[in-house]
Amino acid sequence: MNFQTQYDRYYKEFESELMRRCEEMNFQPQILTESMRYSLLSGGKRVRPVLFLSALDALGCDYKQEFATAMALESIHTYSLIHDDLPAMDNDDFRRGRPSNHRKFGEGNAILAGDGLLSYAFSLLFEEAERGSGHLAAAREICDAAGANGMIAGQSADLLYTGKSGGERELLYIYRNKTARLIAAPVCAAAFIAGRGEAQLRAYGEALGILFQLTDDVLDVTGERAKMGKTLGKDAEEDKLTAVKVYGLERAQALADEYADRCRAALAELNAPFLYEFVGFVRERNH
Ligand code: IPE
Ligand code: IPE
Ligand code: MG
Ligand code: MG
Ligand code: MG
Repeated sequence: MNFQTQYDRYYKEFESELMRRCEEMNFQPQILTESMRYSLLSGGKRVRPVLFLSALDALGCDYKQEFATAMALESIHTYSLIHDDLPAMDNDDFRRGRPSNHRKFGEGNAILAGDGLLSYAFSLLFEEAERGSGHLAAAREICDAAGANGMIAGQSADLLYTGKSGGERELLYIYRNKTARLIAAPVCAAAFIAGRGEAQLRAYGEALGILFQLTDDVLDVTGERAKMGKTLGKDAEEDKLTAVKVYGLERAQALADEYADRCRAALAELNAPFLYEFVGFVRERNH
């Protein structure tokens, strides 16, 4: 099976689970459910669930038993986007090809939709943790990656360095935390559930996360609005500390190649062809 076919398979399987869970949601008042659903169901590449499911598959686990954790990962990611777009943060009006959550429902409701998605994810992970020590370790990894030692720390540093100068060290701190923790967490969680492969998959996930943010920063300059589904040129407008600002476009591209090599090297001892090809997908992406 080629890479795209396999991606589409995980994607579609996840998407139907996501739809089912969204239909079951009944948080009141109704606007809470509506605003949470709006962002969850507005598309997105589902990179984190696909990484999680495919890593389980590579490690010989039955990934079809693990959709709750996949749902938790996408809920946390979606919440991070809703809050990232708020006027007090990146002030973005478009996300996933539609008005961002606060443009549609107002700021207060967008904040609460994000809070709702994060705590919904924690509830799912708590339930899964009862299945045994592997699932408990997976849940702990994901919660830690989402929190003040992870994505939140990165977002905080992102805000701190907006409009300020910073170098490689500061940039890497932002990348490692705001993005790489939530890209590494899915493959680490899979390793915990499988009971093997953690060191290799952590190294892979961290490098892939940095590559992912490098390409995000590059695409903010070179991407097409219709494909990206979000406003471009925002990083320069807000004077964000990005790879493009620190290195310039050309060196940022070269650094992306370097991180792509690191990802592939991390997989040397694992038989995971889909994860191997995932690197090229992130490196070459246009959305
Ligand atoms: C965007 O994430 C935010 C970053 C961490 C760069 P994605 O590029 O995965 O966004 P969706 O989920 O496909 O919309
Ligand atoms: C977002 O980084 C990282 C998150 C934790 C959401 P960006 O601010 O660059 O993501 P986009 O470009 O808005 O998707
Ligand atoms: Mg941001
Ligand atoms: Mg943003
Ligand atoms: Mg960006």
